[in-house]
Amino acid sequence: MLVVKHARVATMTGAQALAGDEPLGLIEDGAVACSEGRIVYVGTAAGAPAGEVIDAGGALLTPGFVDAHTHLVFAGDRAQEHALRLSGVSYLEIARRGGGIRSTVRATRAASDAELLDGAVSRLRRMLDCGVTTAEVKTGYGLSGAEELRMLRIALQAGAASGCEVIPTLLGLHAVPEEASREEWLATAVELLPEAVRLGARGCDAFCEQGAFTQAECTTFLRRGLELGLTAHLHADQLSDSGGAALAASLGCASADHLERASSEGLAAMARAGTAAVLLPLAAWFLRDTPAKAQAFLEAGVTVALASNLNPGSQRIESVSMLLAAGCLFCGLTPAQALWACTAGGARVLRLSDRGVLAAGKRADLVLFDTSDPAHLPYHAGVEHARMVIAAGKTVLVREKACS
Ligand code: NIG
Repeated sequence: MLVVKHARVATMTGAQALAGDEPLGLIEDGAVACSEGRIVYVGTAAGAPAGEVIDAGGALLTPGFVDAHTHLVFAGDRAQEHALRLSGVSYLEIARRGGGIRSTVRATRAASDAELLDGAVSRLRRMLDCGVTTAEVKTGYGLSGAEELRMLRIALQAGAASGCEVIPTLLGLHAVPEEASREEWLATAVELLPEAVRLGARGCDAFCEQGAFTQAECTTFLRRGLELGLTAHLHADQLSDSGGAALAASLGCASADHLERASSEGLAAMARAGTAAVLLPLAAWFLRDTPAKAQAFLEAGVTVALASNLNPGSQRIESVSMLLAAGCLFCGLTPAQALWACTAGGARVLRLSDRGVLAAGKRADLVLFDTSDPAHLPYHAGVEHARMVIAAGKTVLVREKACS
């Protein structure tokens, strides 16, 4: 039995919308014990069971981070597109010129399995170094039946090879492939769903946007995914208010993601339906857009998760401290709310009831930091503060020298 003792244990069992450190559900001078990949004790250090003790010396201990929105299986590099955007050309205009998602599709199709796997494992390891123990990974750069399923397989292999658990999502409606009509691609994507489930997909997703897919197309695809038992997500209201938030709510999606331009009606519909908001402030920053403001969602009673949206086009930063900083500075979350959003929030979005909080019976995913102060993480951003990461009971990172 492993016992992390004398820690400031952030159980994440407080309500997210509360002020100060309340969302963290802190236990001062606490302890967490784990055995066989599960947490068996959370409480005071004085009451902890015996075992192999790690003395935290008063440092912060949280659940492993759950990144609920990534596109991290890809090949190629779009730095030149980034430079073009910095010179004033828009994301949609670059897509119209043949760049954007379709340029990554070309590079991804041309890459070998080994190349794709290597890139995905490197990204997941960098995330694990920050304390991310679960990452959702979307397809969407294959855009043919065989290539989408290849992405799914590689996502799962990358999870097994990296030690960061991957929750794969079939992002069937990301873009229309060059060689198919919209109708043909929609039919193909829908037909792919049962095979994706067989291979291990846990979610389905679509990009509802002008220049991407309509509400009707997203509805057809996601309804079929839901029928097959998948968790549904929707890229919603990113570049325009296309009614995505309300659509996600009406379909029973677990989350609507992006939401920079979601309407107040959309937000109210999400609250009624229990659809969580996945805010992606690093992507908004990358695109020099205005990030969604979290307080409006929290006030309406919507759960807010923060996710990286790691992808080759609109966000290339793996750093969790940068994500926490962006969640606070751009979305207006408090440090405690941002930490909750990256742990309990991410787990809710992925419908993973076995993680995201520290409680007996949950998966033993733990991060021990080099600071006792939760506010330090989004403050001293750009370096990582995890000094020990435990994933499913296994120690996957130990850093001798702290950053603080
Ligand atoms: O979530 N919005 C659509 N998909 C990605 C971007 C993908 C890309 O540009 O390659 C996103 O931001």
